[in-house]
Amino acid sequence: MLSKNIENSLNNQIRIEAESSQIYLSMASWAETHGLEGISKFMYAQSDEERMHMLKLMKFINERGGHAQVSELKAPKISYGTFKEMFEELYKHEIFVSVSINELVHIAFSEKDYATHNFLQWYVAEQIEEEAQAKIILDKINLIGDDKGGLYLFDRDVQQLTLNGSTSKGH
Ligand code: FEO
Repeated sequence: MLSKNIENSLNNQIRIEAESSQIYLSMASWAETHGLEGISKFMYAQSDEERMHMLKLMKFINERGGHAQVSELKAPKISYGTFKEMFEELYKHEIFVSVSINELVHIAFSEKDYATHNFLQWYVAEQIEEEAQAKIILDKINLIGDDKGGLYLFDRDVQQLTLNGSTSKGH
């Protein structure tokens, strides 16, 4: 059985994952309307992945006698300046999610809820991967600079990340 405090904290994480999914969906649409097909596919896949993170939390809460709640979400931005700025936002957002997961782990540990603590380890590992992936992408973007040919190749590369399944691991 979940304590009320843990149930509320997990529900808060559901909202964060749902908002992440919306943010990446908005990024996907922005990229699609700017001819960035590969980046757009990557963002659509990323959005699906966040939805999966959300669903996993919902199942866990309900299986342990709580009630997973679907709440109102903050609307994401519609426009992202440049694709570089967009990936910088993605990276910052993933760091924000990691901080939130860490806080959850801390709460579970301090309440001696080892089942929740154990469940959250999957998210800890996932965040390490997500941050690392975003960092690799940003490093590539910095290498390209203003080179249009570089952007073309980068767009294809990022799409490969999606096709290779590195945005759909751990399901
Ligand atoms: Fe669900 Fe990208 O963190």
